[in-house]
Amino acid sequence: MEKQITNGQKMSQLKAINNKNILYSCWLLLISINLFSSEPIAYLNTLGYEPAQKEIAYSLNGMVTTQHFLATSVGEKILNKGGNAYDASIAIAFTLAVVLPRAGNIGGGGFMVMYDKDTSKAYSIDYREKAPEKSYRDMYLDADGTFNKDELSTFGYLASGVPGTVAGLWEVHKKFGSLPWKDLLEDAIFYAEEGFEISPYMADILYKYNEKMSYFPETKKIFQADFPDFKNRKLFQKDLANTLKKISLNGKDGFYKGEIAKKIAYDMKLNGGLISVYDLENYNPVWREPLTSSYRNNKIITMGPPSSGGVHIIQMLNVLENYNLDSLEHNSSHYINLLTEVMKYAYADRSKYLGDPDFFDVPVKRIISHDYSKEIYEKISLGSSAPSIDIHPGMYLDSESNETTHFSVADSQGNVVSSTYTLNSTFGSGVVIKGTGILMNNEMDDFSAAPGIPNQFGLLGAKANEIIPRKRPLSSMTPTIVMKEGELFFTTGSPGGSRIISAVLQSILNIVDFKMNLEEATFAKRIHHQWQPDILDIEFSVDTKTRNELNAMGYYVEITEPLTCIQTIMYKNKKYSGYGDFRRPDALASGKINDR
Ligand code: DON
Repeated sequence: MEKQITNGQKMSQLKAINNKNILYSCWLLLISINLFSSEPIAYLNTLGYEPAQKEIAYSLNGMVTTQHFLATSVGEKILNKGGNAYDASIAIAFTLAVVLPRAGNIGGGGFMVMYDKDTSKAYSIDYREKAPEKSYRDMYLDADGTFNKDELSTFGYLASGVPGTVAGLWEVHKKFGSLPWKDLLEDAIFYAEEGFEISPYMADILYKYNEKMSYFPETKKIFQADFPDFKNRKLFQKDLANTLKKISLNGKDGFYKGEIAKKIAYDMKLNGGLISVYDLENYNPVWREPLTSSYRNNKIITMGPPSSGGVHIIQMLNVLENYNLDSLEHNSSHYINLLTEVMKYAYADRSKYLGDPDFFDVPVKRIISHDYSKEIYEKISLGSSAPSIDIHPGMYLDSESNETTHFSVADSQGNVVSSTYTLNSTFGSGVVIKGTGILMNNEMDDFSAAPGIPNQFGLLGAKANEIIPRKRPLSSMTPTIVMKEGELFFTTGSPGGSRIISAVLQSILNIVDFKMNLEEATFAKRIHHQWQPDILDIEFSVDTKTRNELNAMGYYVEITEPLTCIQTIMYKNKKYSGYGDFRRPDALASGKINDR
């Protein structure tokens, strides 16, 4: 039996017939007749959500795409006001911290990849959380060396790394910002203070996470006051508004020093957490050289370690460049066979060789070298599944539902920003720091607690990713920009834990090899294999013929609900196009949908 899609407990409530729904039904019908396989449509139908994005959006003057329509409108407003892509990104990130609390954050961290038109250069900044000074390698193990079952790395005060978001955004503003800092926080403060309407989708998420969000009184007070009925309510976050005002006034010091820092440290100490004032004062984001490579004459610009995403995207593209992908039918068993075999090698290497480059010598050059991709290419035998047990990390080298969010911005001057940031799990650690409205991350779970113990995404790790004070946990977040002949081609990224890497890969292949437009690329089903466990995931469903063929090749196929959400902006014929992925129905790209 195929696994049922489990989201959307209150779907029946959402099916009331009104004008909006009639329009929505027409849209569904049109799309299902014209374009794509019926499964994503069936999925939308089952959930009953009306996606904010109904067609490709177009614009001549820059574009924004985010996972929440309010953040999209804030980003668009900043661009219209003359702000650049960096300004818009900062405003979007602060707004998402308010309107998308399951993932948007100031209590988490992330990465931003940028293409700067003035300098014609690519940049990337790592504002990932860091392990607190008092953390230690075996902190999630019991005395006998076994993994503690109390979910300490995912839930509660001990799960958080030192947040990096505010410092990261501050750095970006110092280097590239054009509008005053305080202008970029205005809308976030407004939505926190005056409240904003909870969307049907968000209402369901708040309902679904009632247990997690009710455990700590401070969290419950803010997020569960309206349980069980969140519909037609507004979410108010007054403490968060005050925290944002301090950040607006004092820049990053408003978060990392003074009253807010003391409140974080005090609440942590009171509840067994580790983050101290010292940790906060000493948090530093890092400008890192982005990873670049070429794929079929397109330039790939992506994030290097401590993200594993960029390394493995380039590694997999290098292998795939040896094949004529467009000669295969998209998502046929032969195509899935090829992608899956390539993914296994990449994820196997991830488990052993990837970690924070400030603490571990990550063999990036080797992994992304063409020599190495040739070795993998020669090992791949198509037509069957190589059991994961026979694939070992670096064999050919020399020697979490859960939450994150991605936003992309392109401005009319030619600057491009691609950023993925996160609390890790949905609503992070579940902790709101008393009196601040700050929802904290559970990023410590991205470290490898011990060899052989998988994290919440089933990912295995090793020494490269063990816990050390001040170290950053390994990430899969893969903000990516693709350039063609010196101009933006497209920018993309996604949430989805370990699935981010495979989703971004398929986003690139769909556009470059299969020449899909953004609607087609968004609707195309995504597959995923991460080496261990040895399972091939396919979104939504798979037709019997393909399934039988895959089974005959030796794959164990599992049907999953969609766990990624690609936000892409494309630039073609002097026009921007964008598509907010319906998999998170509040996602929206700015621009007009009838302006082709
Ligand atoms: O950095 C990472 O790889 C994870 N913390 C990302 C978590 C995530 O994407 C959850 N989202 N759905």
